[in-house]
Amino acid sequence: MSSDCDAHTWYNEYMNEKKTILTGDRPTGKLHLGHFVGSIQNRLKLQSENDQCFYMIADVQALTDNASDPQKVHDNVLELALDNLACGIDPKKTTMFIQSQVPEIAELTIFFMNLVTLARLKRNPTVKSEMKQKGYGDDVPTGFLTYPISQAADILVVKANTVPVGEDQLPVLEQVNEIVDSFNRIYGTTFEKVIGILPEKNRCRLIGIDGNSKMSKSLGNTINLSDDEKTVTAQVRKMYTDPSHVHKEDAGKVEGNVVFTYLDIFDTNTEEITELKKQYRKGGVGDMELKNRLSARLNEILEPIRVRRTELAKNPEAVMKILEEGTKKMRKEAAKVLIEVKEKMKIQYF
Ligand code: TRP
Repeated sequence: MSSDCDAHTWYNEYMNEKKTILTGDRPTGKLHLGHFVGSIQNRLKLQSENDQCFYMIADVQALTDNASDPQKVHDNVLELALDNLACGIDPKKTTMFIQSQVPEIAELTIFFMNLVTLARLKRNPTVKSEMKQKGYGDDVPTGFLTYPISQAADILVVKANTVPVGEDQLPVLEQVNEIVDSFNRIYGTTFEKVIGILPEKNRCRLIGIDGNSKMSKSLGNTINLSDDEKTVTAQVRKMYTDPSHVHKEDAGKVEGNVVFTYLDIFDTNTEEITELKKQYRKGGVGDMELKNRLSARLNEILEPIRVRRTELAKNPEAVMKILEEGTKKMRKEAAKVLIEVKEKMKIQYF
């Protein structure tokens, strides 16, 4: 496993040809450009290449650290569905479902809990850093500490083996694979190990518009997929460039310059960008010129997404219907796996 994202996939010796993809998001806010390059683009690619794809709205997981804010989680279920559909997730190819409506996941979580120690949960780097960020000490909700176990159930309840995720989720997948090993060892071979599909190298952690850290809602440094043209332009205007590049004629720095970082990712005309960088370094290119180019490019990418989102948002019932149908389909698959699991665990009595 690579922590600096130089491998796209996590090698898995047990991997067979047929891929079952499962991924999800917590419904706690709207999706932003970081999600777009970090996971949605991979989802779209995998959806076009594989016939078993699942997308989960992880409302139960969202509640593990939002127990007192159910309305927020509830409202964001629809927002998340809209964001994904607008980006091109196709419900005919990807089964979209709501986690809380699949009780088989909760059941499997309980069984998996016997296979994981408290010490192991406390050691998980993802959980550790999230706990620190949220200021939990020993007062961490048990549900939050144990979310990697329920995430194992999310994935294994349909025997998914391929999970497109952000880099920060790799320690969770490592824990999932330990559960796979323990389960198979104790109860007989049932699950395959899962592999994480990571974004391409420079897309791992899209930097926020402030240039300080990764794009994140809590840091207020995002460009949301649903932002209108004006907002996108305003956010690009605020982007961190080179503070010593005051006048157009000044020589400027390209490294650490957020506008260039974004142009490298979002502007496909690499020749022109290389030329622009050269000129910027020498002096003679204004920040405004760069920012206008980036705003135009981002708006070009986001416009079709916005149009589709607005259209879909006119009919929320239809979107909920998609989730309802997807959930039904998901439960059918999950029920089969649960019977097998219970047989293996010797708790299938009737
Ligand atoms: N933990 C993931 C996140 O915070 C969301 C998630 C829940 C997930 N269950 C999953 C991702 C199963 C992949 C597979 O982004």
